[in-house]
Amino acid sequence: MRGGGPLAGTVAVPGAKNSVLKLMAATLLCDGTFELTNVPDIADVTIMGDLLEAIGVSIERPTPDRLLLTDHGNLTPVAPYELVERIRASINVLGPLLTRCGHVRLSMPGGDDFGARPIDMHVAGLEAMGATFKFSHGYLEAFADRLHGADITFDFPSVGATENLLTAAVLADGRTTIDNAAREPEIADLCEFLVAMGAEISGVGTSTLVVDGVEPGSLRAVSHHTVPDRIQAATYVAAVAVAGGQLDIAGARPEHMTMLLDRFADMGLEITMVNDRGGDLMRVVAPTQLRSIDVATLPYPGIATDYKPLIITMLAVADGVGIVTENLYPGRFRYVEELQRLGADVRTSGHHAVVRGVPRLSGAPVRAHDIRAGAAMVVAGLAAEGETEITGIHHIDRGYDDLVGRLSAVGAHIERR
Ligand code: UD1
Repeated sequence: MRGGGPLAGTVAVPGAKNSVLKLMAATLLCDGTFELTNVPDIADVTIMGDLLEAIGVSIERPTPDRLLLTDHGNLTPVAPYELVERIRASINVLGPLLTRCGHVRLSMPGGDDFGARPIDMHVAGLEAMGATFKFSHGYLEAFADRLHGADITFDFPSVGATENLLTAAVLADGRTTIDNAAREPEIADLCEFLVAMGAEISGVGTSTLVVDGVEPGSLRAVSHHTVPDRIQAATYVAAVAVAGGQLDIAGARPEHMTMLLDRFADMGLEITMVNDRGGDLMRVVAPTQLRSIDVATLPYPGIATDYKPLIITMLAVADGVGIVTENLYPGRFRYVEELQRLGADVRTSGHHAVVRGVPRLSGAPVRAHDIRAGAAMVVAGLAAEGETEITGIHHIDRGYDDLVGRLSAVGAHIERR
């Protein structure tokens, strides 16, 4: 890619990876044919599909944005290493399979390389609901005749643990209360999906979820439109912020990005919602010069850790010094070395990164280490003078639906070889 802009035009944001993968896993809860729409065309959806097929769900994809998943009830509750190690979200089959089949054998999950990503909260929560666990040879096995309701309070609002307990509780005997639950928009999306299926959940969108278990026969397959991807939306905001110009982002939900949009406004971006031919668009106008800010990542509604590589890249070409504090994954700074290769002035110490803005980055070969770091390399390439070549782009394909096509359609000089 070659840096520079300006960018101009409209970019459509597809459904969220971090929602659709969980919706797919939740189809393990009952028989029937589910329809998911607004499905992003990304590699992780294919991998999750392969995993569900191995378990016994049939999958059709009539168009790239539409999935039909048929659960015939004839499930083999075993998730093999070759598939599980490829995505973190494979852990999301644990809750539905355990509550439905009474037994699960699951390879320990992989996913992005953020350092240790334990699952102790998933396990402790399911144990409180009556499950027993065995760990050996890289596999976990869980057993339960029928899970029972429990009062669970998390030390930390884990996204994955909230989802697993939620789905497990849907068919448990009695009431489960999850306190200090994560409340990301993708969790609310999952709750809406489960409620449409017949689950009884209250407190959707809050940090206390109350689930009254229902009988297995009372759930039904449904059709659901996946919530738009706030991280992809933020990626296009970051792209126009560093390249200059104006972009209209279709499908973005500003109410899911409130705190981030406030911080982007502090950096000098003008962001408004406009109504164009019946559709809501997020209009983003780049300033001539970005201003630095300090940012700390926090669970939702705070600034998501997944936005951080984008923010650091924007700060790399902003006026002044910005301090970014990571509160979720201490190890999540690997892409900083790549940004330094592009001339960014970033120093990290423990959980903090200090970013001193420079007028322009300078193009160089760099590597994508994970999905969001890969997207940040693309944004950095737009902020760089000359040519930037990014390798390891299979990481970007895991979470981005035609990033190259979407950016080149609005004027970016980027191609895939
Ligand atoms: C999800 C997202 C990921 C995002 C993250 C935080 C998916 C597929 N991935 O990951 O993109 O960055 O939320 O917003 O949706 N933890 C424990 N024990 C546990 C569970 C979590 O210590 O049992 C720790 C993790 O190591 C991490 C923190 O809690 O430090 C956050 O994890 P969690 O919220 O569970 O994130 P994921 O669901 O893995």
